[in-house]
Amino acid sequence: MHLRIRALRLPRRVAFVLPLLLLFAAGCSPEHYPQTGLRPLSDYARIGDDIQNTTFYWAVGVFVLVEGALLYAIFRFRGKPDDPEPRQIHGNTAIEIIWTVVPALILAAIAVPTVRGIFETNAIPKGPEVLTVEVVGHQWWWEFRYPDLKLTTANELHIPVGQTVLVRMGSGDVIHSFWPPRFAGKRDVFPNRETRMWFKAEKAGEYPGQCAEFCGIEHGRMAFRVMAQTPDEFQAWVAHMQTLGPKRAAAAATDSVRTASAGAAVQTGKTPAAKPQAGGQDTAAAAQAAPPSDPAYAAGEKLFMAKGCVGCHSLQAVDAPKGMIGPNLANVGARTTIGAGSFKNTDETLARWIQNPQLLKQGVLMPNLGVTPDEAKSLVAFLRAHK
Ligand code: CUA
Repeated sequence: MHLRIRALRLPRRVAFVLPLLLLFAAGCSPEHYPQTGLRPLSDYARIGDDIQNTTFYWAVGVFVLVEGALLYAIFRFRGKPDDPEPRQIHGNTAIEIIWTVVPALILAAIAVPTVRGIFETNAIPKGPEVLTVEVVGHQWWWEFRYPDLKLTTANELHIPVGQTVLVRMGSGDVIHSFWPPRFAGKRDVFPNRETRMWFKAEKAGEYPGQCAEFCGIEHGRMAFRVMAQTPDEFQAWVAHMQTLGPKRAAAAATDSVRTASAGAAVQTGKTPAAKPQAGGQDTAAAAQAAPPSDPAYAAGEKLFMAKGCVGCHSLQAVDAPKGMIGPNLANVGARTTIGAGSFKNTDETLARWIQNPQLLKQGVLMPNLGVTPDEAKSLVAFLRAHK
């Protein structure tokens, strides 16, 4: 009687669990969740993926054999109420040797590719074709420096497809973990200690990455993007970034002083509105920096200095100073997200961020600076022009 009730219950349980399992499996769809390590897009990621597959297939084989033997034993040797006591066995040397040697061989079969993979992934690629990128983890954003190109950017790592990238990593504060899942595994990032990683991207596109080591309240919003580009696109990006140099920042600073004094003059009604001008060799840089026709830009530039933004954020991509507290903003206007991959980079979210970063990302080091909505608009116009 008891057994029959159990037998009746089973299908209902299956009926309940099966849709849940299907729902669970549907959640693995890589199209909707691109932050996956199961679809490798680099040589480095393939090494890990191959080891995982090898291990998985061995595990499936072991599972089928063990469970098969168990089920066979359950049904084949099932006891009946009037069975006599079965024959007692005290050890069997042959079987014990088999179940020691076979698992040892399986472990060896897994260990060989694993150890080889550890050495391969820890090797340091050398040669003129290797692109070195320095990654610095910060609470809670990522700094990317290209020492050979003298470039710095933040939260969007641009790399060329088909070229090996050597990533040299460190941290400005606590331990983080750099994880670009389509291209490589997770690797911890420490203060005062360099860790390394390398990979050669196979396919252009925009891919998500994430800090993978709990590093404080906004660990979850310490994301980044890998922008894998064709070699031509990457070269064009580098060439463009190299126009965002110190001259441009200096021109912006002097313009701002000029604008500020002119602005003060406007307030006293003495001279017409400021029109930033640049003379001599700075002309090109200044032209890069400013669409001076936009009064919001000029006002934003002034605010960027007056509100102290400039103390934490550099606006130059070339030879940017090290150790800045906030992300480099040289090309912030062109980035897809703000707040380290947290929010879409629209004028609206950027304005909200500037007015109250603590509301969007609680605990972020950027304080609320008492920026009014109008001031935020000007700052957005200024930052948006920094592409
Ligand atoms: Cu940085 Cu978690």
